[in-house]
Amino acid sequence: MSKAVIDYWEQGAERYRDHAYKFNLKGERYPFYETRRSLMADMAKNLPRGKLLDAGCGGAALVIHFQSLGWDCYGFDGASNMVKVAHDNLKECGLETSRVTQGDVTDLRAYGDASFDIVISAGVMEYLNLEEEKRAMAEAHRVLKPGGHLLVENINGLFDISTFNRFTMGFYADQVLPLFFQDKAERERLMKRIEGLVTNPDKPSRQGTFSTTRDQVFTRAEIPLSYGAKAKSFGFEQVEQGFYRYHAVPPLLFEAEPTLEQVPIAHELALSRHWIGNLMASGFVALLKKV
Ligand SMILES: C[S@@+](CC[C@H](N)C(=O)[O-])C[C@H]1O[C@@H](n2cnc3c(N)ncnc32)[C@H](O)[C@@H]1O
Repeated sequence: MSKAVIDYWEQGAERYRDHAYKFNLKGERYPFYETRRSLMADMAKNLPRGKLLDAGCGGAALVIHFQSLGWDCYGFDGASNMVKVAHDNLKECGLETSRVTQGDVTDLRAYGDASFDIVISAGVMEYLNLEEEKRAMAEAHRVLKPGGHLLVENINGLFDISTFNRFTMGFYADQVLPLFFQDKAERERLMKRIEGLVTNPDKPSRQGTFSTTRDQVFTRAEIPLSYGAKAKSFGFEQVEQGFYRYHAVPPLLFEAEPTLEQVPIAHELALSRHWIGNLMASGFVALLKKV
């Protein structure tokens, strides 16, 4: 478990308590958490109910939601302050606080083999490096019953092509140029040229209104088109993908026209399985089956 990531969430727990899942109350920019929760519930709706483990459950919003949908839910989080938020939220809903404990997604030895019907994880995989992700996936696989499911969310790395900003620069630097140019100096030269083509290669500002978690702490984006093959290498078969946090226009336009950011809200679930999500949605959820 990365200390920097956990410190980030130890410090962010009170902000998360006050703002996450509170779009209507706080006038947040986008109902990002609510949209993801609806999508995940939709993707799990036809699965037979059973025991659920939420890996990196934060304030237990998904534990509480899936419990209300008929699952028997448990969860854990790496940050002790997040576990406190979770316990307060569970108490408020009349659920036992013992359902949520402190733990690390890369080490599930507190749970037995084949003990859950589904493992869910939202907003967590992106904080793991590739080695940690491998361990987390192996642990999820181990604690799942045969034929059990993993419902897992990732940042969509393909969306970075559509943003015409710093993240597009990163997409070319990390994903494209290394495939074609061995020479580092040549890659740097080409990045300078690309900088002239991308409208705002330095935006979003790491501090400003449009800064994201990706600017604050290590995060890793995932490519939805190759995720099925990756899941297979971890012993899962991909059943489906759902996209969320759509953008109707590149986010650079939100500064000048803030209402454009909210246009997709009404379309989220309808578009969740549309191919355009590969490019215009910043996150995706994969439903995987243990094989
Ligand atoms: C964005 S929050 C998401 C919380 C929750 N899953 C949700 O969707 O509301 C990310 C959470 O992941 C937790 N986390 C990050 N790395 C972790 C790790 N290695 N093990 C357990 N939790 C971790 C953080 O402490 C934080 O609470």
